[in-house]
Amino acid sequence: MCHLNDDKKYADPNLIVGFDTSDDAGVYRISDDVALIQTLDFFTPVVDDPYIFGQIAAANALSDVYAMGGKPLTAMNIACFACSLDAKILADILRGGADKVQESGTALVGGHTVTDNEVKYGLSVTGVIHPSKVITNSGAKPGDVLILTKPLGSGVITTAFKFDMIDEHGLQEAIHVMSTLNKAASQAMQRIGVNGCTDVTGFGLLGHAYEMANGSKLAIKIFSSKVPLMRQVTELIKQEAVPGGAYSNYAFVEKWITFSQNVSQQERIALCDPQTSGGLLISVPREKADPLLKELHNRGVKWSTIIGEVTTKDNVDNVITVV
Ligand code: CO
Ligand code: CO
Ligand code: CO
Repeated sequence: MCHLNDDKKYADPNLIVGFDTSDDAGVYRISDDVALIQTLDFFTPVVDDPYIFGQIAAANALSDVYAMGGKPLTAMNIACFACSLDAKILADILRGGADKVQESGTALVGGHTVTDNEVKYGLSVTGVIHPSKVITNSGAKPGDVLILTKPLGSGVITTAFKFDMIDEHGLQEAIHVMSTLNKAASQAMQRIGVNGCTDVTGFGLLGHAYEMANGSKLAIKIFSSKVPLMRQVTELIKQEAVPGGAYSNYAFVEKWITFSQNVSQQERIALCDPQTSGGLLISVPREKADPLLKELHNRGVKWSTIIGEVTTKDNVDNVITVV
């Protein structure tokens, strides 16, 4: 994860987005028209196939630039690899990453590998954006509608696969979702114009929704029955295929969330499931919600759907209400 919250001592007049918000990347103005977006993400394998892991890690690293409405320009590999392993595995990881970076239209310009018994891979991505067009997680406005662009459940599905509760076939949907770039979704929201955005990753939907509500000093309502889930997720949660992160996310956000009684325990866990390379959570003015959905669907972001709304904090019980 990429979030570090409480260090303000590096304040700089050109720093548009820095440590002090829970945003996805740093943004630094280099001229009146251009700001740099910089981000770094890397993690341990989420799937066994090294080539697919490389693709997913790259889609995830690029996502922090897309979540801000930026255009990634260059990317650099960061990898940890054990000497005892077959070097072909590292080559396959890097090939997966390179293919995904190329698909995004970004230039891969180098990288660095260190020896480590635990394999890790990711990228540092540099992008550009117009300084006045930066989309952050704190820009939501009262009356906005929330759109999510990918289904939830990658944490549960990959955990179930590790425990042999599903086979390769059951893993395919999660692989497809995780390796899909958020590029088309980002371009759609830039075209329509939105108020706020974040990508849904390690903190789960509710954790990232909480950051958005908190950053925007507003409240959020989530319609649990509208949130798209990958196949089998509720069933697998019942069978306890739940990653530890889902429980810690739940414990972290619980006090800011009021669940309506009809929201089952499985749904609550699914909403806290840590996502790898999850979708964008977009806060858009209500009158632009339909045009945005149309634009997303036209660009192939088929999962996109309205899952909630933004309100003021008046007359609500809590920061987040899940009905
Ligand atoms: Co990140
Ligand atoms: Co992010
Ligand atoms: Co080096």
